[in-house]
Amino acid sequence: MPKVLVSDKLSPTAVEIFRERGITADVKTGLTPEELIAIIGEYDGLAIRSATKVTKAVLAAASNLKVIGRAGIGVDNVDVPAATQSGVVVMNTPYGNAITTAEHAIAMMFAQARQIPQANASTHAGKWEKSKFMGVELSGKVLGIIGCGNIGSIVAERAIGLRMRVIAYDPFLSPERATDLGVEKVDLDDLIQRADIITLHTPLTDKTRGILNADAIARMKKGVRIVNCARGGLVDEAALKAALESGHVAGAALDVFAEEPARDNPLFGMDTVVCTPHLGASTSEAQENVALQVAEQISDFLLTGA
Ligand code: MLT
Repeated sequence: MPKVLVSDKLSPTAVEIFRERGITADVKTGLTPEELIAIIGEYDGLAIRSATKVTKAVLAAASNLKVIGRAGIGVDNVDVPAATQSGVVVMNTPYGNAITTAEHAIAMMFAQARQIPQANASTHAGKWEKSKFMGVELSGKVLGIIGCGNIGSIVAERAIGLRMRVIAYDPFLSPERATDLGVEKVDLDDLIQRADIITLHTPLTDKTRGILNADAIARMKKGVRIVNCARGGLVDEAALKAALESGHVAGAALDVFAEEPARDNPLFGMDTVVCTPHLGASTSEAQENVALQVAEQISDFLLTGA
C-alpha cells in the first residue's frame, strides 16, 4: 500500500480521499527540515502547500518518493530540477484557487483605489476623516494585466464587468483567446506606458524576476497603481518604494513579497500601500478544491501511474 506524507495544512478532504483510495496518509505539519529529512524515506508521495521546502537535501533522503503534489499553483518551494533528476514527478493544481486569487486581486485593486484599509482603521479609531480619503474610480481606467492565463483571464473578465478597459501582455495569449476575452493583446512596453493600474499574474521565473524594475516603473504613467497577488520578486521593492515616495506611483496593493514570511519589508508603514500576508488562495472554497485535486492527482499517479 503506498504511503503519502501530508506535511502542510490541507483540508481534511485530502486525507479522506487518500484513505478511500487505499493509500496510507500521515499528516505531520510544522516539521523542521531535519525532521522531514529523517522521515521522508518512508513515503511514496508528498502533499504540500507552500510551507514545506523540498530541497536537494530532502530529495536525497527521499529514496522511495515518486511524486510531490503542491496544493496550489506555485512550485517555487520545490527544487524542481533536482526532483526531475531523481525521477520524482512534481504536480500542482493550476485551477483550484484561480477564482479566489483573481477575486483577491480585484479586492486589492478596490482597497487601494478607495483606501479602504486606511479608512477602516481611522473610522474604528473614532476619527471620522471624511475629507482625507479621496479615492479614484476604476470604471473607464486602463487595466494592464501581465500574465493572462488561468488567473489573469478571470481578472480580465471581472474587470471588463467593472467597465475597465483591459490590455494584456502574455506571450502565450493567442489573438483568438484575447478577442474571446475582450482584451487587447499588447507588448510589455505598451502595457507599461498605457496602464492606469497594472496587475501581475505570472509565475516568478528567471525571465519575469524584476519585470517591474526601476526602468519599467520610470516608463509608467504618473499616478499609476500596481497590484501584485502573484509573486514578490516580480516587482523591485526598492524601486517601487522610491517611486511611491516621489509620487510617480500613486499606490500599490501587495499580497506577496520578495521575502516571505514578510515581517520587516521596506514598503511596510507607507500610507499608499495596502498589504495582505499572501492570502491570494485563502478561501475555504479554494482550499477545499486544491486539497481534493492534489489528493486525486497523487492517488491516480501512485495507483495507476497516470
Ligand atoms: C499558489 O501558488 O497557489 C498561491 O500563491 C497560494 C499559496 O501559495 O498558498
